[in-house]
Amino acid sequence: MDIDAAKVQALRAGRVPIYEPGLDKLLADNAARISFSTSYDELLEESRILFVAVDTPPTPSGDADLSRVQRVVDEVAQRGGPRLVVMKSTVPVGTGERVVADLEAAGMRDITYVSNPEFLREGAAIEDFLAPDRIVIGAFREEDGDEVEALYRGVEAPIVRTSVPTAEMIKYAANAFLSTKISFINEIANVCEAVGADVREVARGMGLDHRIGPHFLNAGIGFGGSCFPKDVQALKQLAGNSGYHFQLLTAVIEVNHLQKRRVVGKLKERLGSLRGKRVALLGLTFKPHTDDLREAASIVLAARLRSEGAEVTAFDPLVPGPKHVQFPGVRLFADALGAVREADAAVLVTEWPEFATLDWKAVAGAMREPFLVDGRNFLDPAALSAAGFTYVGIGVPPVTPAPVGQAGAATLG
Ligand SMILES: NC(=O)c1ccc[n+]([C@@H]2O[C@H](COP(=O)([O-])OP(=O)(O)OC[C@H]3O[C@@H](n4cnc5c(N)ncnc54)[C@H](O)[C@@H]3O)[C@@H](O)[C@H]2O)c1
Repeated sequence: MDIDAAKVQALRAGRVPIYEPGLDKLLADNAARISFSTSYDELLEESRILFVAVDTPPTPSGDADLSRVQRVVDEVAQRGGPRLVVMKSTVPVGTGERVVADLEAAGMRDITYVSNPEFLREGAAIEDFLAPDRIVIGAFREEDGDEVEALYRGVEAPIVRTSVPTAEMIKYAANAFLSTKISFINEIANVCEAVGADVREVARGMGLDHRIGPHFLNAGIGFGGSCFPKDVQALKQLAGNSGYHFQLLTAVIEVNHLQKRRVVGKLKERLGSLRGKRVALLGLTFKPHTDDLREAASIVLAARLRSEGAEVTAFDPLVPGPKHVQFPGVRLFADALGAVREADAAVLVTEWPEFATLDWKAVAGAMREPFLVDGRNFLDPAALSAAGFTYVGIGVPPVTPAPVGQAGAATLG
């Protein structure tokens, strides 16, 4: 059930309203045993267990906005059921206790509550849901936790049974830690640039230490998306509201903001003033395999470039053009070659696999100046050099165009 009638209509017609690999097939395969509705009456009439997965976006203060969750609780309280409410939305620690208190105050003593946070990644949602690293179940009463655990029978994963506040905290702590890892490697990358080291090799050398692990050590232009920025902010806010100043998270957030802006510095270093210069953005979504633009680095970057006086063009496989409300003043093209034509520089913002196989020689030929900032350290610098590019990554030695006929890359001083 969703309050968005257009989404429900699309789903009823067998169309998935977001881009998520494999989801359309999964929906089609299970069409006979899934139905969609916009009505709470219809939804709650015969339900025994209600999973709440509404959005919890940030408020201007950085706290999680629980108004949608509250609406669901009110609807449940009005109808006296279902018996068990399972919270999938990411909610601040203490929400479960407050929801139960609200329900009790409304005389709904028979409705119970379980926290079951979701850890899936957009773009790999199905795989993550069916083969998760763990399933976290926080319950006030043992038997409610058992009931939710039973729903996951057949899914091979460690089950973490805990209290409701602890389950709520696990979700925030996990996202805060992953964000910290990203901001950490981004700062290492920035130091690498200053001292002539290569962050990709540093990350490999670090990641082989099993205490550190190889994941989330790719330096780049910072994290975005619908979860990390809001969850880190919400945990910082939650700590602050409880009287604790979470200094580390303050730095994680600031480093992430600055990281997006460093790209502008790299462009200026090469091109001087950006006024009147044409800069092409390759990729706009916050990561590949999704059409999600929430908190995408591209939005900040495009706005910064525009305010520097640059002309900004862009291409993303899933963001249609030629105009988009999130990118005022930016011209969106239907292919990469269109976006880079006559550009003074290109910035790879999202590591869409198709950019790895782009005809970079043709791209270089189309540009006014074959200069590329690889915001994700995604491309092979030697190949870009061979294609005629001056290539700058994040925390990696820049390379100049290889002399004609040579495949290798010349490292800049
Ligand atoms: N997107 C992710 O990768 C991800 C991963 C883990 C956890 N989460 C958490 O899951 C929650 C949902 O995230 P999302 O990205 O799917 O958000 P979303 O905004 O894409 O989807 C939320 C949906 O809830 C609907 N909705 C809002 N209020 C409603 C109400 N009162 N009744 C019924 N439907 C209502 C909206 O119309 C929307 O379709 C958030 O708390 C998020 O932090 C998301």
